[in-house]
Amino acid sequence: IDIKTLRGVTGGVTTIDPGYKNTGACESAITFLNGEEGILRYRGYSIEELAEKADFLEVAFLLIFGELPTKEQLEKFHSDIKAQSVVDDDVRKIIDAFPKSAHPMGVISSLTSALTAFNPSSVNVDSEEEMYNAIVRILGKFPVLVAWTMRKKHGLPLDYGDNTLGYVENILKMMFKKPNEEYKQNPILVDALDKLLILHADHEQNCSTSTVRIVGSAHTGLFASVSSGISALWGPLHGGANQAVLEMLSAIQEDDGDTKKYMAKAKDKEDPFRLMGFGHRVYKNFDPRARIIKVAADEVLADLGVEDPILGIAKGLEQEALNDDYFVKRKLYPNVDFYSGIIYRAMGIPTEMFTVMFALGRLPGWIAQWREMRLRKEPIGRPRQVYIGENSRSFKDIKNR
Ligand code: ACO
Repeated sequence: IDIKTLRGVTGGVTTIDPGYKNTGACESAITFLNGEEGILRYRGYSIEELAEKADFLEVAFLLIFGELPTKEQLEKFHSDIKAQSVVDDDVRKIIDAFPKSAHPMGVISSLTSALTAFNPSSVNVDSEEEMYNAIVRILGKFPVLVAWTMRKKHGLPLDYGDNTLGYVENILKMMFKKPNEEYKQNPILVDALDKLLILHADHEQNCSTSTVRIVGSAHTGLFASVSSGISALWGPLHGGANQAVLEMLSAIQEDDGDTKKYMAKAKDKEDPFRLMGFGHRVYKNFDPRARIIKVAADEVLADLGVEDPILGIAKGLEQEALNDDYFVKRKLYPNVDFYSGIIYRAMGIPTEMFTVMFALGRLPGWIAQWREMRLRKEPIGRPRQVYIGENSRSFKDIKNR
């Protein structure tokens, strides 16, 4: 039965597949991954090659539009994004209204949704041109929201960066520039962030991406769809793992580096604790992104002259897990988030911002998946269920219950 015919079929047998472990929700031409062999490709290009040779904006273009951009296409794309990199001044008031203790993921998902209020023409988009306008808008404004969310936490003024800089350079400047101080760009940090963002840019139908596609399938606009993706990413079993990993490694450090204790906790079925940064729904061999990040973490720390004992703990834990029957049997290997937090920490990014950095990287993937879903005129996402509740009952008046 072909997919077109399948689209018209309802009311047949309902399959049940908790967690959609074996259910494909769509056809997609964006990202290929083979979990058994540890292969990840964006539009046919290997993640290893892209991380080494491309920059983040090139990869964003590739994911969204399907081909690597020519020099002219990339310049136009960047210039269209820069033209949209100012947010309405009232956004500052919204940011100010959040308590300083607010988690940045809550702030950033709210701000992304709030963008719809300031950009009503991006709410209902149907044509490719309207989609393009919404896409460059969010790519222009999202980094500002990210930087301002962090600046507010640090009590820094909500300043803009410098649009003469590259996309990633500008993000770093917006995040870190101190008032009355000249900001010096560090090429090591630019390169590291470029790499991290590329590695996070797409990962086919994961929890947040499926969320973006299913919300968007109701023809909800791009900003609101992305906002719901951010909420999905927040969870510790998904993107929130990068924050949880660093917190876990810090806890182990404070506990005299007792990795064995945490290994035992992770294996104890009575204990809800899991070794954060280990395991993946699809990768049952290794996560190719983790390999690249592990090397990058070594390089960044060496280049910056940072000696972080947390890196030693992470490596020790990895070795123990790789030689432990429980982890080997269940094919639990370090995932992308096991080492990313160590790099973010070395860059001076606070732990609570780690998942926001993930969202910044994943943004092109969400956009590409949302656009593909709309261009393919996917039907509204609406899973079925197998009902296991009470049978028909008569209503009981409140006095008789
Ligand atoms: N520590 C200890 N045990 C684990 C771990 C872990 N990190 N991950 C899985 N297991 C165990 C489970 O308890 C289960 O054991 P059982 O068969 O004895 O019941 C078995 O391995 C299979 O685990 P599931 O939860 O069924 O696997 P699933 O594919 O549903 O989950 C997930 C994948 C969510 C990534 C899981 O491995 C996990 O919770 N990891 C820790 C959180 C994490 O790092 N998330 C980031 C994922 S990458 C990303 O989203 C960017």
